[in-house]
Parts: sequence; C-alpha cells; structure tokens
Amino acid sequence: MSSRNILVTSALPYANGPIHLGHLVEYIQTDIWVRFQKQCGNICHYVCADDAHGTAIMLKAQQEQIDPEQLIEQIAKDHQTDFSDFSVAFDHYHSTHSPENRELSEQIYRVLREKDLISTRTISQLFDPEKNMFLPDRFIKGECPQCGAADQHGDNCEVCGATYAPSDLKNPISAVSGATPVEKSSLHYFFKLPEFTSMLKEWAHAGHLQPEMANKIDEWLTNGLEEWDISRDAPYFGFEIPDAPGKYFYVWLDAPIGYMASFRALCEKQDLNFDDYWKPGQDTELYHFIGKDIINFHALFWPSMLEGAGYKTPNGVFAHGFLTVDGQKMSKSRGTFITARKFLDHLQPEHLRYYFAARLSNGVDDIDLSFDDFTQRINSDLVGKVVNIASRCSGFIKKRGDNTLSEQCCEPDLFQTFVNAQFEIAGAYESREYSKAMRKIMELADLANQYIDEKKPWVIAKDQDRNQELIEICSMGINLFRLLMAYLRPVLPKTAVATEAFLNIDPQSWPTDAEPLLNHAINNFNPLMTRVNKDDIDAMLGIEKESTDTDQKPADEINVPAAPRSSKNIDDQDDAETIAEQIDFKDFTKVDLRVVKITKAEDVKGTKKLLKLTLDLGGNETRQVFAGIKSAYNPEDLEGSLTVMVANLKPRKMRFGVSEGMVLAAGPGGSDIFLLEPDEGAEPGMRIK
Ligand code: 2FM
Ligand code: ZN
Repeated sequence: MSSRNILVTSALPYANGPIHLGHLVEYIQTDIWVRFQKQCGNICHYVCADDAHGTAIMLKAQQEQIDPEQLIEQIAKDHQTDFSDFSVAFDHYHSTHSPENRELSEQIYRVLREKDLISTRTISQLFDPEKNMFLPDRFIKGECPQCGAADQHGDNCEVCGATYAPSDLKNPISAVSGATPVEKSSLHYFFKLPEFTSMLKEWAHAGHLQPEMANKIDEWLTNGLEEWDISRDAPYFGFEIPDAPGKYFYVWLDAPIGYMASFRALCEKQDLNFDDYWKPGQDTELYHFIGKDIINFHALFWPSMLEGAGYKTPNGVFAHGFLTVDGQKMSKSRGTFITARKFLDHLQPEHLRYYFAARLSNGVDDIDLSFDDFTQRINSDLVGKVVNIASRCSGFIKKRGDNTLSEQCCEPDLFQTFVNAQFEIAGAYESREYSKAMRKIMELADLANQYIDEKKPWVIAKDQDRNQELIEICSMGINLFRLLMAYLRPVLPKTAVATEAFLNIDPQSWPTDAEPLLNHAINNFNPLMTRVNKDDIDAMLGIEKESTDTDQKPADEINVPAAPRSSKNIDDQDDAETIAEQIDFKDFTKVDLRVVKITKAEDVKGTKKLLKLTLDLGGNETRQVFAGIKSAYNPEDLEGSLTVMVANLKPRKMRFGVSEGMVLAAGPGGSDIFLLEPDEGAEPGMRIK
C-alpha cells in the first residue's frame, strides 16, 4: 500500500497561561495518532502554534506591564518546554502573531471580500469609558437579571443558569476598570456564514465529524445561521483589517488560519509544497483534533471560510471531551488544577500518556483522571505486566545465555498470535479508540505472562542440563515483549527507545511482518519504568501527610487553633501564650476574618474530633471546612449558628476532602471549645475589622 500524506493539527493554546492536564488530553491524543501514522510509514506532519491574539492577552500584558509581544514570547517558550517534556512532538510550532499568519489572514479576507462574502453594519455594545475600550462579554460583571446573584459574568449566571445579553445584567461593571459601562456603537465587519448553509449540511454528514458533533451542527443549521462578526475595535492585540483602520480581525478569525501559517513555516523548513495540503483536489488528508467546546469554530466557520477562500475543507474534525480530576472539574481552590509543570515535578510523563490512552475513546465523553485508577493501571498494567516480562526473562539470558537470544523460536504459534493482533490494534489506533488498543495489548501481555508462568523458567534454571530450554523460553518472552513495545510505541516513545537500546535493535516500525529475533545479542536490562508512588501524587496535590490516627493530632492541624502555636509541645494554655511567636500588624491585616453561618454540620466518619461544616459567607458564597470540634458540639446544635472564619486560608486537602478555610474557636479542648457566640446584628459576610 502506498503511504498516505497527512497534515494534523491540535487546537492552538492561548498564550496567556500555562499548559495544564486538560490541554494535555488533546496534545497527547493527537501525538499518539501522529506517531502511529509515522510508525506505519505514512508521511504525517503535525503542526501547532500559540494562539497569541485577543483582548485577554492584551490585558494580561498590561497587567504585567510588558508588551504583548514580550508576554507571548515567554509563554511560547514555556508551552514548548512543557510539550517537549511530555514527548508531544510537533514537526513545527508557530505563533498566530507571525508574518505568515498575517499574510494568510489578509489573503483569505481579501478573497472573501471580493466574493461579496463580507458585509458591514453598525452595532451597539458595552464600552468601558475609563479604559476607552469595548468590553468582551467575559469582562462585564453584574447582577443576574433573573435571580439577582451578584458578580455574574457577561452572558450567563453560574448560580441559576440563566443566559442573557450582557446589556441585561443589573448594575453592570467593567471587570477591567470597575467603571460602569456605557452603550456605544461602531462599525463591524461580518462574514456571511448563512451562504454556506447547504454546503455545511452536506459536509457535516459526509463522514468528517463524529455523529454527536454532526447532530450538533444539524441543530445549529436548523435554527438558522447568522452572519459572524469578525472585527474588533482598537485597542486590540491582533492584525488590522486591510482598508479598515482601527478595526482588527477577531482572534477566532486568524486562530485557525494559524494552522496554515504554521504549516507554511514548516514548508519553508522542509521544502514541502503548501498547496498539496490546502488546495482542493489533492490526495492529501487534513485532520484537526479539538475539544468539543470549539466545534462551532471548526465545523461551521472554518470549513466555510476555507471553502469561500478556495481552499480544501478538512477531512476530519475530531472532538474530545473534557478532563475531570477525581470526578470533579479541575479547580484552583480544590488543589486539582494541575499544570503540566506541576505534574512533571512529581510524576512521570509517560505514565500520564498511558493513562490517557487507556481512558480515551473516539467519542466526546469527558474523561476522568482518578488517581487511584491511575496508580492501579500504571503499576499493574505497565510495570506489573509489560515491563515485568522483560525483567523475568532478561536475567537468565544474561547469566545463562551470554546475553544472546536462542537460535530458534520455540513457540511460533504464540509469536504469530502476537503478530496477528496488529490488525486489531492498528484499527483501534487509526479510529482513535485507544482504550480498545490498550486493552488488547494488555490481553497479549497477560498471555505472555501466562506462558512464562506455565514454563516456570526459575524451576528449569535449577537443572543445568536444561539450559537450552531455559534460554528458548526466556527468548520467547523477550520476543513477545518486543512486540508489545512495538504496539505501545506511539504511547510510550521514551520507554520504546530505552527498550530498543536494551534489545539492541533499530527503532521499531509497525510489525507488519515481524519475525522473531534469533541468535541476537541483547544488552543488560535496566528497569524501564518505575511504579507510581502515592506519596508523589499526594505531594503534587498538596495533600499534607497525616498521622494514621487523626484524633491524636494537635487541634491546630485539624483546623482549630485551640491555642497559639509554637514549635514546642504545649501543655498549658498560659505557657503557650507566653511562648507564641509574635506577628506584626501587617501580617495580621492579611487575615480575612468573616462572620459566617453554619448551614450544615455533619459527622466525618472514622474520626472522633472532626465535623464537616458548610459555611454561608453571604453573597451566595459557601465553603466547606473541617473543624475539630466534635467533642464540644452536636452537629445539629450548630446548624443555623454564626461563627467567625479565616476566609483567605489556602485550601488544604485532607484525608476526607478539601478544607476551604478555618473556623475560629478557643478553649482548652475536650468539651470546652467555644465558637463565637452569635451576636445580634451580625450577619454572614460581615468582615471583622
Ligand atoms: O479554545 C482555545 O483555547 C483556542 N485558543 C483554540 C484555538 S484553535 C484554532 F482554531 F486556532
Ligand atoms: Zn441567576
């Protein structure tokens, strides 16, 4: 079969923040697919770039008092280091703030304009009179027009779920300056999207999209498309629209064109032909990997722009779901917002690559990173099953076979079973059903281990006369291991390279017609992978080490500062006061003390001291705090009472959940722990001065 020519992209990360595990789902998913294609001998180019334009990046640079160019340069470096440390191997990484992207964006715009696919009209939007800028929806805050909740963003309420226009918010303020926005009109440029309705209808059902996504597109098409606003007024960090001074391309106009720009730069580097991959009628393939939240941009606007400007439309847009961590959205306050760097500081990147592969299907369901499951799968699948085969066999080959594999293959049928599995595994990789591929590979690993268990080389090794048999069995094990690592190569590129060094072989291509290695010298075996250690996960999540018996802990460690702290043992309250470390007034002013209402108090199973309190801070804000006051209070008696909390204590992850603050109490302990007695006039949300 002749090889395919494929161009692959992942969505461009914004240049205003670090890469986190949510991003990595996509880059790892794409990288595995690209590596698989390359391993099969296809020509596959993988390009990406930083998405460097827009209001958010402009404001972030202002905040940091640097030019946006400086900001995006620094972030581009950080992003690329993170990607490379996770073995995400782009053939080229570019920026949307580049000459190639400016040229292509202008060219596409000009063609669209010539074809009468651009219109203009004046619209009215909220404007910040202090910053002299129009405000994107997410930079406007106010009270929800439906439920009155304070501090709600531009177009939807997080409390009641209502959706509305930013101008409907009550008492709106600009999140940029705090000023009250005013309505102001200006001329905008629109792309005539409705003209592409019938083209999109056909395209969406021609096998380029997952069924769920095609249905979503149908829904939008049925409701009727509107013209797409592609301009933003100065000040804006982006490209000025040709012949329209003070008007800039909206970031989402030039972002996908960034795919082309990055590829154009690759063409320069590698002497490739740009048109081969972007002009219609070519035998090349174009695929975009994206998150399901940006399907409108990639399956409505983007194919229409490409079609309108005379380029080819994508062969596939593959959406994936979101990542949750231990069942919940990643959250800074819960300590589950994990950046790529934080993960790398504690854990091994290939472990994450394998875990994501083991969880990813070709659908759009969200995937959960459960750290128990993560530990289980790495330790039992990769270390316990796959690498174990090599470590069980290599010692005998070294000691009793001079590190040379046997001259003949003693189980050709078993070897052939492993070779034949390539079709099922390749099919699963190709269709992005990685979890299916990983399951099949682990089934094979089970077979290899069963074989070794049955042959018991450690028993045979006791009999010097059976040396040849011993080496044949262990060589068989090594040959099976070699095939497993060929299949895992797209997921575990570094371990694959280390395996190839151990086996003294060339980089493994897809084992289309693999033969066993016979009479072949190998190298000494070094552990190819280590187990996941729970302490490392805890350290990454910021979970403090706890003694096995919480009830033995000093009260201050379970959130009740029963007495001022010192590093010495404190037996007596008076002594404690005299030896407590002093803080200055500035430190004191950092503490945010608030009156809160205990709306719920519950036992924490397995502890004698802890209660789980749900606290109402007023203004729809609630917190969960674990407090060591069970000896003094029945949970029911506490519900409805007021107390004082430290509201700006960093959340602490405890064995039972996250504690988001600290309730203030005093007393010697036991049943004499006193919370603040509610005072008339106090109400949730009051700050203590
Ligand atoms: O949603 C995002 O993070 C965007 N920066 C993705 C852009 S993808 C492409 F269209 F450029
Ligand atoms: Zn609301």
